[in-house]
Amino acid sequence: MIRARVIGAGACLPSNVVTNDDLAKKMDTSDEWIQGRTGIKQRRIALPGEKTSDLALGAARAALTDAGIDAGELDMIICATTTPDESFPATATIVQARLGMAHGAAFDVQAVCSGFIYGMAVADSLIRTGAARTILLIGAETMSRLLDWEDRTTCVLFGDGAGAVVLQAHIGLGTNADQGILNTRLFSDGRLHDMLYTDGGVSSTQTVGKLKMQGKEVFKHAVTNIAAAIAASAAASNIPLSEIDWFVPHQANQRILDGTAKKLSIDPAKVISTVALHGNTSAASVPLALVTAIKDGRIKRGNLVLLEAMGGGFTWGAALLRW
Ligand code: ACO
Repeated sequence: MIRARVIGAGACLPSNVVTNDDLAKKMDTSDEWIQGRTGIKQRRIALPGEKTSDLALGAARAALTDAGIDAGELDMIICATTTPDESFPATATIVQARLGMAHGAAFDVQAVCSGFIYGMAVADSLIRTGAARTILLIGAETMSRLLDWEDRTTCVLFGDGAGAVVLQAHIGLGTNADQGILNTRLFSDGRLHDMLYTDGGVSSTQTVGKLKMQGKEVFKHAVTNIAAAIAASAAASNIPLSEIDWFVPHQANQRILDGTAKKLSIDPAKVISTVALHGNTSAASVPLALVTAIKDGRIKRGNLVLLEAMGGGFTWGAALLRW
């Protein structure tokens, strides 16, 4: 049976660190409020002129180096982003060109903060059906460009960055012992649009719009939906949650991470958290957290790793991998 196995991972963050105290100099907020409500201590904000494709390219190069392959071996590039450089073409094609890749296919996936999980499900399907052997999957965002910097209830939560993995076909036995993606589970409910959206777009206002959010409602749905996605993914492979070594969640808010772990009786020590350093980087947050835990040696070959996310739409989902 063909499995999609991660053979390399990499990340790229803007150099510009913005702390809570930096924000407090510009708006009516405080380090105490932001840390207490969210766990966020700092975030990276792209400098003027620094684009999503710049971060995506940095993460892509790091992932290719980690995998020990060059772009010539890729069949496809998928970029999960809600902050593309341009309305079209896809940011993935910009990365493709900058990698010097003149073959294969490149396209973007838009599922906001769940984009990396959605992209992983697409990549997994393409690899398992034999349509592609090697896929570069990127999550990249410049969320700072979508924020209303006059709205302290939202602008303190987000940051910019990119993470990427290289997925490659690998022959397994079709059991849970196989390395690679064991299953993915995707969900959405478009009726919940008004809880998290941008008040603009190409076909409506011909502007980009700014992020709007009903924070308390998002919080409640996040814990419920993420817990359901985790349970669905574990059940799909008939694996008890207690056997999963690492949970790599979308990094929206430490209280969402803690609430979800509590709801499912997951040991908090198994939950990778980078929210303090990165804030919410939307589709980049899962791969950024993943790369952190790979590089610091927590995630090791053979571990069971569950990735999960929720975002605007609402969209949510999970992916279970044997590392
Ligand atoms: N600094 C200081 N005070 C603030 C700030 C701020 N940045 N923002 C709001 N406040 C004030 C409010 O004005 C309010 O003051 P009041 O009581 O005088 O009216 C008070 O703090 C409480 O505001 P609430 O909105 O009730 O705060 P809450 O406890 O709900 O926390 C938060 C807000 C952190 C946004 C929370 O609702 C949350 O985490 N929601 C989840 C949202 C999220 O993570 N979204 C990410 C996208 S979706 C996803 O990725 C899963």
